[in-house]
Amino acid sequence: METAVGDRDRVVLTYGTFDLLHVGHLNLLERLKALGDRLVVGVSTDEFNAGKGKRTIIPFPDRLRLVQSMKCVDLAIPESSWEQKVADIRHHGVSVFGMGADWAGRFDDLKQYCEVVYLPRTEDISSTHLKQALRVLGKEHIGELRQALGIISSIVDQFE
Ligand code: CTP
Repeated sequence: METAVGDRDRVVLTYGTFDLLHVGHLNLLERLKALGDRLVVGVSTDEFNAGKGKRTIIPFPDRLRLVQSMKCVDLAIPESSWEQKVADIRHHGVSVFGMGADWAGRFDDLKQYCEVVYLPRTEDISSTHLKQALRVLGKEHIGELRQALGIISSIVDQFE
């Protein structure tokens, strides 16, 4: 019987939020892709994140599109529950499940279905850091705005 080329592909699967897409995400996804032929990425939905008490800056449909647009990503799918992993592994014929090292050991129960790897994270960058930086920037702008308002009000005062 003839086998489709796709049937022989080694499929790699990962999950994440991928808010404010950054080079740490790119590095991880490129390294995961290098472990196989096809990379499937589960992007957590806003509802799933809300259940974890996590809020993103970028809404789910945009995060999904951004991840799907990356060259190393073959397919981006929604991640809407913790339980979907085994079904996804079976459905996509996954050989390798991989996450960043911050998750080390957390998914070892999946070793009964496929290989499980944890890759080192890229140092000094995360969505949390970027959000903190945005908050600080926001505060700076409020200061600048107050300063500008002060100047404007002193100009207006001159005309009274
Ligand atoms: N990741 C990585 N290197 C980084 C940041 C993230 O390898 N510097 C990996 C994570 O280990 C995970 C995947 O990218 O496997 C998606 O992580 P995500 O939680 O979306 O990114 P973070 O930047 O870690 O976000 P947060 O700060 O909200 O945890």
